[in-house]
Amino acid sequence: MEYQVGVISGDGIGPEIVREAKKVLDKVGEIYGHAFSYDEILMGGISIDKTGEPLTEAAIAQAKAADAVLMGSIGGNASTSPWYQLPPHLRPEAGLLKLRKSLNLFANLRPAYLYEELKEACPLREDIIGDGFDMMIMRELTGGLYFGNRVTEARDGVMTAEDTLTYNENEIRRIAIRGFDIARKRRKKVTSVDKANVLDSSRLWRKVVEEVAAGYPDVSLEHMLVDNCAMQLVKDPKQFDVILTENMFGDILSDEASMVTGSIGMLSSASLNDTKFGLYEPSGGSAPDIAGQGIANPIATILSAAMMLRYSFDLDREADAVEEAVRQALKEGYRTADIMPQEEAGKAGVTQVGTAEMGSLIAERVKK
Ligand code: IPM
Ligand code: MG
Repeated sequence: MEYQVGVISGDGIGPEIVREAKKVLDKVGEIYGHAFSYDEILMGGISIDKTGEPLTEAAIAQAKAADAVLMGSIGGNASTSPWYQLPPHLRPEAGLLKLRKSLNLFANLRPAYLYEELKEACPLREDIIGDGFDMMIMRELTGGLYFGNRVTEARDGVMTAEDTLTYNENEIRRIAIRGFDIARKRRKKVTSVDKANVLDSSRLWRKVVEEVAAGYPDVSLEHMLVDNCAMQLVKDPKQFDVILTENMFGDILSDEASMVTGSIGMLSSASLNDTKFGLYEPSGGSAPDIAGQGIANPIATILSAAMMLRYSFDLDREADAVEEAVRQALKEGYRTADIMPQEEAGKAGVTQVGTAEMGSLIAERVKK
């Protein structure tokens, strides 16, 4: 089959890590007889430099025309980059938010699991890690504080800023249904995270999630307050299967979850709407401090490409093969700097490699 992949290389380490994911996809194509064609789409800082906007209408049209979009990262150093002198709606991140909204990508899946081989990179104590953990963070992506009204103005002579957190029941229901569907294919447990002891939006969230849960008697549901969840993620991450939560809580909890897997460089993500289309991107940022040095970890992007094979193209075998190739490269001791703890350096059987080498090692290990 032929697949048209829109590619947003973006800024910082984006182009380097996307190059490696394409290398792996091309290997999949070669072995399994698929053709992936790539259409480069401008977004973020590079788009600002070339067009004056972080995401043009033409770029949105390109993304819509693709079967799926693979993205690296966007943005720069907020204190030094001229992009952050621009008004907020013209900054790099505004492009990403506009793309999510334009394509109605309301369901953000962020899988966080600990590879046996990376236990050393996990900052938690061994008795907490146990046999490892495997959770899926389901983050609502097109509502809440990210898309509510905002204003900064003087009120009675006092500078005042306001952001609005709004959810309607339909927005909650559709993400909850996704969460329960996914839980059904996993360990059948949903932890719905909210702040229902304070927020109205959370109280509605809880009510709608309970209504949805009634249709899934085989899946267990628990509610957890977000502050407690932040604590439980480091106290006992094994307890989680699917974490279902709103946009801002999901943003924060997914960074925390990534760190307990060893590195944010390992965390892939998929943003889906109600068609087969999806935007696939590593959960990490553009890391301008290490851009261009060839040391960034491409694994999250490669795993995001695997999610694209699975969710947008229904190529489960191929997705499994990519995930297995990643596991194999780790098992053979290959590590990028971020997943190479000090104690491991210099040990026999452990080799530190750069971005391109890691990409090649993984591509070579994709098997039929
Ligand atoms: C993420 C990022 C984005 C977000 C930023 C870049 C706007 O942190 O995908 O988690 O907050 O959603
Ligand atoms: Mg984030």
